[in-house]
Amino acid sequence: MKLPKKVQIKEVGPRDGLQNEKVSVPTHIKVEWINKLSETGLDYIEFSSFVHPKWIPVLADAAEVAKLIKRNPNVTYAALIPNMKGLERALTVGIDEASVFMSASDTHNRKNINKSIEETFPVLQEVVDGAIKAEKNVRGYVSTVFGCPYDGAVDVDEVKKVVYKLMEMGVYEVSLGDTIGVANPKQVNDVLDELLREFPVDKLALHLHDTRGMALANTLVGVEKGIKTFDSALGGLGGCPYAKGATGNVASEDLIHMLGEMGIDTNVQFERFMEAAKYIENALNKSLPSHQLQIVR
Ligand code: HMG
Ligand code: MG
Repeated sequence: MKLPKKVQIKEVGPRDGLQNEKVSVPTHIKVEWINKLSETGLDYIEFSSFVHPKWIPVLADAAEVAKLIKRNPNVTYAALIPNMKGLERALTVGIDEASVFMSASDTHNRKNINKSIEETFPVLQEVVDGAIKAEKNVRGYVSTVFGCPYDGAVDVDEVKKVVYKLMEMGVYEVSLGDTIGVANPKQVNDVLDELLREFPVDKLALHLHDTRGMALANTLVGVEKGIKTFDSALGGLGGCPYAKGATGNVASEDLIHMLGEMGIDTNVQFERFMEAAKYIENALNKSLPSHQLQIVR
């Protein structure tokens, strides 16, 4: 196998991981958790989202979290931003990077951000321009790349169109979302083949949910295709409340373990990471998977 020496993990647990939680999570717990994650070797944490608090109540305290976390200078602290209102809120309290998001399927886009795909482009263009003016990098997400809970199969040409538009707006990277975890390895292979004909591999990332336990297999295809950035959430937390049936992200610890065993460096110190996992497991009163795992090497 042709494998990279190193890949980057973008930890989205505090955002994607918590946004689907039905119970409210106290701000101080989030802050302590992010502080612990910040000391694991991760260099990127999506810490919250500045969306409408009524749409995602559990992340309504994004501003407080931004103010209270202890920032490690080696970590990029990013947040999800849907529109100018969100960007203004985020810039007031300080973010390192903005993530804009939209879907490749119209119905999910409408359910998630209350606009058609066409109506979303100008809204995100304003956000990208505003963030760049404030000297922030901007990342883009495309959701429902591999299937939509409402529209079913998604045409790869629709994906290409949205990826192209986001790159044209000025995002430095597009993360391809398997929002409801329906992708299979052959599909990931075929979709990446199509996209890599038009976009450079270092501008694409994968954001895989694990509904049917296929996220690691799909990751492997991505690694072989040369993708070097993968999003994941500690404990496999996560899911989009506006995508029916969506379950958690690929668990960061499983991803780090698999890559580590394959000799691919993620820079994450596994033991410290598991301390952060135990912390949030206790705080959420949940039994998260994989906690007995130890890297033996
Ligand atoms: P809307 O109701 O259409 O917003 O919601 P609007 O622009 O019409 O404004 C209505 C009111 O909301 C106004 O207040 C605005 O000021 C206010 P009023 O004048 O009536 O008093 N408002 C806001 N307040 C605070 N913060 C804001 C904000 N924006 C407007 N940012 C909106 C549109 C996009 C805001 C809403 O639909 C929303 O917040 N959606 C977010 C849903 C969400 O977070 N989904 C999950 C994240 S995406 C995901 O998980 C997928 C991903 O993980 C990748 C993958 O897995 O595929 C990224
Ligand atoms: Mg997601």
